Amino acid sequence: MQPALRAAHSSSCSAIVAYSSRQVAALPANTLTGLLRVGPVLDLPVEPLQQCAKMGEVACHRAPLDGDVLDWFQPRQEATNRRLAGGGVSYTKPDTPGPLVRLHGARSSDAKREMFAVGLEDLLNESAIRLRIRSGCALKRSEDGHELVLEIDDGRIVRLSDYVSHYDAAIDGIANGKPLTELRDLVVASGGEWNAMAFLNQVRVLCRTGFVEYPLVETGTEYAVIVPQWASFVPSLAPRTPPVEDRLQRFACVRRSGNAWLVESPLCGARLVLADLSALDAPLVRRALAAAGFLQEARMENDSCQDALKLWEFQDLLFHTHQRRGWHRDMLGAHFPFVGEIDPSPAERPSWPGKRIRLPRAPVDSGGESFASVLERRRTVRRFDDSRPISVPELGALLDRSARIRSSRVVPVATPTGQSALFEITQRPYPSAGACHELEIYPVVARCADLACGVYHYDASHHSLVRIPASDADVSRVVADAKRASGDEANPQVILAIAARFARVMWKYRSIGYGNILRNTGALYQTLYLAATELGLSACAVGTADSALFARITGLDPLVEGTVGECIIGRTLQPDPRSSERDAP
Ligand SMILES: Cc1cc2nc3c(=O)[nH]c(=O)nc-3n(C[C@H](O)[C@H](O)[C@H](O)COP(=O)(O)O)c2cc1C
Repeated sequence: MQPALRAAHSSSCSAIVAYSSRQVAALPANTLTGLLRVGPVLDLPVEPLQQCAKMGEVACHRAPLDGDVLDWFQPRQEATNRRLAGGGVSYTKPDTPGPLVRLHGARSSDAKREMFAVGLEDLLNESAIRLRIRSGCALKRSEDGHELVLEIDDGRIVRLSDYVSHYDAAIDGIANGKPLTELRDLVVASGGEWNAMAFLNQVRVLCRTGFVEYPLVETGTEYAVIVPQWASFVPSLAPRTPPVEDRLQRFACVRRSGNAWLVESPLCGARLVLADLSALDAPLVRRALAAAGFLQEARMENDSCQDALKLWEFQDLLFHTHQRRGWHRDMLGAHFPFVGEIDPSPAERPSWPGKRIRLPRAPVDSGGESFASVLERRRTVRRFDDSRPISVPELGALLDRSARIRSSRVVPVATPTGQSALFEITQRPYPSAGACHELEIYPVVARCADLACGVYHYDASHHSLVRIPASDADVSRVVADAKRASGDEANPQVILAIAARFARVMWKYRSIGYGNILRNTGALYQTLYLAATELGLSACAVGTADSALFARITGLDPLVEGTVGECIIGRTLQPDPRSSERDAP
């Protein structure tokens, strides 16, 4: 712990910290002290502090902090010139009271360290960095005047307590994008140092919501806007003259969004938004990019401590971080972003033209093997009984068990902004995120008793197949492609090509649409594996087949409906085949 911070531990809180005005100067920049500028050193057990709060001598403020709770206690003005009555608490300098900070529920000492590492010091020192509420969001005083209310564009509302009218001018200043020092001075002018300090604490919590952005302004020109993506991000500027040669790190990218350019990286806590790409040459922008981690010394790229990063490909890390909360501030989840703009696609895919081949259903109880035994027997098998290919009833049973539509219904859905629509969903044997059930199965038949070689679509509502015109050469290509994926081991009898109707999912979800499709594919894989095991068939999932070939054969627009996985199926060799022990090629 820093020498200037004194901590006391008790059963009811993780840390109590007091700050000294005399010792602030001794602390490194970029700590919480930037916020808590003045204050006496106090050794505080919790109980007297609570006693003081009870007696009204300290005001207790509470703010959420990334899963923890930050309490800070502020002695009331009238209490500052006398010894606090709570017992055991006294000020060494009664005229300069300071806030006392208490963190509950800290998950680890790392969490505490992180808390102290995030300050507003740089923002107070850099007038080129302004503060502004993100567009689409609004910051206002509550009707009763006691709260600061942040209205977020997705309909959420964040309320910060302990609002006082001395903040009014500064809050208006945030709407217009002002430097933090100016905002602080506005509060000092209206309510003095004490209120300014309280205001800075409000700002700090506001910044951590992630809905404050930071325009970079010099000589009246706005060069870029820093938009935080991580809750802990506070912007700063690197020194004016970078000492070493640096370059854009390998995970950074520049892309267009609307009329703006975004510079982003899954490894950086913020995006930079540029109106014009030429702003990348502005020294101010380069300093911000360097400070946020976008620029990396060339020699660092092969640093051995970067091994964890070496394993990641650019697109994988970008995809992964965008799939999860915590690494970005984009909307994530079932927001139905296209309601009113694009109609939802039907739950059941329109049938392919052509004759329907009805498939037999599978009996619900087919012989008494326990589910536990099926689970125990499931393996990936790449060798099939070539002398007795799979039959139509077996293929029908497999599809019935794993993919048939059991029922469908229409449900009302609503966007966070209150628009509504109707969405049709289906129920099938495997789970599907949001019941979107976007996956379609296209059996490519190489060898199946009583069924011609060719490409088929499985109509999951009518439990039937429809043949899609495809040349023998193309069917052979699909088979050869799957065989190659199995390490040239499997002699596929049927390949179940799994295609996604992307719009089903993308219409509902933001950020996690494609991730959900892959998750759903995994759920279908396992259902196929288990059903095949139970039915005396064998399965081998395939991860690397040719989606362009499927698009060419079917004529489908690969952005509308395209393959995301395949599963090779065949009849199990009798007696039980020796399962392949090796890993996928
Ligand atoms: C998503 C996924 C993709 C796979 N891709 C292939 C593949 O392309 N080729 C292959 O031979 N096996 C593939 N497999 C099968 C795995 O190699 C197999 O599950 C693994 O070796 C474990 O063996 P087990 O399934 O018998 O437990 C895949 C499995 C999964 C779940």
